[in-house]
Amino acid sequence: MNSAYVIHGGQPLFGRLRVHGAKNSVLPILAASILGQGTKEIVNCPDLRDVASTARILEYLGCRVEREGSVVRVDPGPMNRCDIPDAMMREMRSSVVFLGAILARTGEARISFPGGCELGPRPIDLHESALKALGAEITKEEGGDLLCRAPRLVGGELNLTFPSVGATENTMLAATAAQGTTRITNAAREPEIEDLQAFLQAMGANVSGAGTSTITIEGGWPLHGAKHAIIPDRIVSATYLSAAAMTGGEITLESVCPSHLATVTAMLAEAGCDLQIGPDTIMLASKGPIRAMRPIRTMPYPGFPTDAQSPIMALAARAEGTTVFVESIFKNRYRHVDELARMGADIKVEGRVAVVCGVPKLTGARVNTTDLRGGAALVVAALGAEGASHITGLHLIDRGYEDLEQNLSRLGADIVRLTIDD
Ligand code: UD1
Repeated sequence: MNSAYVIHGGQPLFGRLRVHGAKNSVLPILAASILGQGTKEIVNCPDLRDVASTARILEYLGCRVEREGSVVRVDPGPMNRCDIPDAMMREMRSSVVFLGAILARTGEARISFPGGCELGPRPIDLHESALKALGAEITKEEGGDLLCRAPRLVGGELNLTFPSVGATENTMLAATAAQGTTRITNAAREPEIEDLQAFLQAMGANVSGAGTSTITIEGGWPLHGAKHAIIPDRIVSATYLSAAAMTGGEITLESVCPSHLATVTAMLAEAGCDLQIGPDTIMLASKGPIRAMRPIRTMPYPGFPTDAQSPIMALAARAEGTTVFVESIFKNRYRHVDELARMGADIKVEGRVAVVCGVPKLTGARVNTTDLRGGAALVVAALGAEGASHITGLHLIDRGYEDLEQNLSRLGADIVRLTIDD
């Protein structure tokens, strides 16, 4: 069964919205919940397709998982497997973070190679070399499985040649079970890494430094049950702010961490929006025309997030003037551009650069979602377009947005979800 959004654009968004927990925090935290004994209680857990996929992996491994509203409890006590089947690995590329967690828990892990995804090739060489540096032996089996064995993990100094988010997380998880101290340099500094550290600390792990480029883990501490609240989703926040800016509305996001969004709010201010930043709120009002922004280069945190590139590009597509984007994280992250062009956007892509010449109006069209955040860009564009848009491929958007159409409707958008028979 497929589904599609029908959006009649032009309705300004008004109101307040509470932002749900971060997908990119909850996925590694759920993987980490298999470490040690005792039930882990995850609060502010968003109800997303990727979270459901992760819960299925946990259940396959033998863990007990239950959800009550936005609270998820994981009891890793009955875990009795160390492999993840190919179909589950393919559901979501981030399942690779189970590698470090399973290895730490059982000394052996077998997963299928996560391979590419909608964003292009997604190698895991950095994950592999970091785990090898801790003493893991990794072999590629026939059929594409990765067999990872480490009867004994030993801490050490390791430098990531690129601050990969997933490789940093995988290393942190494996290092909790390593003998001695592990120091990761050039670690990713994303807020989600800090959230993972907070969860590991709540479980009794000796981890410090997350949020900086050097993370230190003293392995071997006994881990126990813990309760942890997930940080708000900064990319979902960026999407709603872009949508409000696009429609000439005024919204207040509640339960957000404004500092996590500093580069995005700076661009929205440059686009001509009024912003009022509180301790955990962001108010955005968009009254005048949307203006072009300075060149936007995606970078590891605290730089401009690659995940916010596409929703902000939708806004730039209707700005007065030209905005240049440079995508420096993923090779293939402009697939939404052809779809935006169907709505009248004028965007030229050359390699990692996209030149967006703003047009006075976008027009509703039939478009297809190419990837999670690309889908968010289509929704933002459709909300600001004249006439009706029909957006298919919602299973990709459902990976990362809880109740998107309900929330947008409450803010005044004209959006409905249709179910389409195949
Ligand atoms: C995470 C986020 C994703 C975000 C990305 C960058 C999750 C679940 N996903 O993905 O939403 O867009 O960070 O902020 O948290 N690379 C290698 N070899 C490796 C690992 C990565 O070459 O072993 C490359 C990737 O191909 C990519 C770049 O490094 O070009 C960044 O990847 P990484 O930071 O690892 O992103 P993910 O953890 O996959």
